[in-house]
Amino acid sequence: MTKLGVNIDHVATVRQARGAVEPDPVAAAVLAELAGAHGITVHIRGDRRHIQDRDLELLRATVKTRLNIEMAATREMVDIARRIGPDLVTLVPERPEEITTEGGLNLIAQVDVVTPAMRELEEAGLEVSLFIDPDSRQIEAAGQLRAQAVELNTAAYAEAVPLGLAEWKEEFQAKLHNLIGSARKAADCRLRVLAGHGLTYRNVRPVSDIPEVEELNIGHNIVSRAVLVGMDRAVREMLEAMNGQVG
Ligand code: PXP
Repeated sequence: MTKLGVNIDHVATVRQARGAVEPDPVAAAVLAELAGAHGITVHIRGDRRHIQDRDLELLRATVKTRLNIEMAATREMVDIARRIGPDLVTLVPERPEEITTEGGLNLIAQVDVVTPAMRELEEAGLEVSLFIDPDSRQIEAAGQLRAQAVELNTAAYAEAVPLGLAEWKEEFQAKLHNLIGSARKAADCRLRVLAGHGLTYRNVRPVSDIPEVEELNIGHNIVSRAVLVGMDRAVREMLEAMNGQVG
């Protein structure tokens, strides 16, 4: 069975939009775990736009499955990872102005940045995964770096199926076959294979069917659906709070 890591960043995005205390990503993590999630994933960004340092401490104390922290390979972030001690650290590229992670690490151009960060994290006893595009040169580079795991960026695949599973489309087939081949190559390079970015209820199945992919990290689409499926109940509860009855 493919494992699911639920990315709860955007619960914190809603909280930060108001500078309030709700919704609490820690509560979301507990509920995700109760629903069967195999892990909780958060991205601590340099600009702290959603997840805060305090969230990491609380999550470390409460997550009972596996805590995966995504971060840039910077001095500040390596120190945070060493202090918090997550079950997995995923190194990602980060550009301050980006809306979301725009692509995978370039392990060829950034080898001097990624390697020392990875080694320091490993020496601290942490498992490290590298977020890379499904590109054979990047996979080979991850293998040469003797990384423990890679997370294959599924954004290009997801963008090829914006409206659902259009298997007949050449673009979709090409991106899917690239992911399948990349997962196989990564496993051949003795890398543990994860995948994620842009996955939705509609496009997830062909990716979860790839045998080498152990785990998917999915965030925005799950949080989006949670807002909508929770709206009916939330409005009914407010009416009850106002009037002492519903309807
Ligand atoms: N994996 C990585 C490395 C990411 O940066 C993100 C987004 O934070 C995700 C997975 C989840 O992507 P999405 O929110 O589109 O599901």
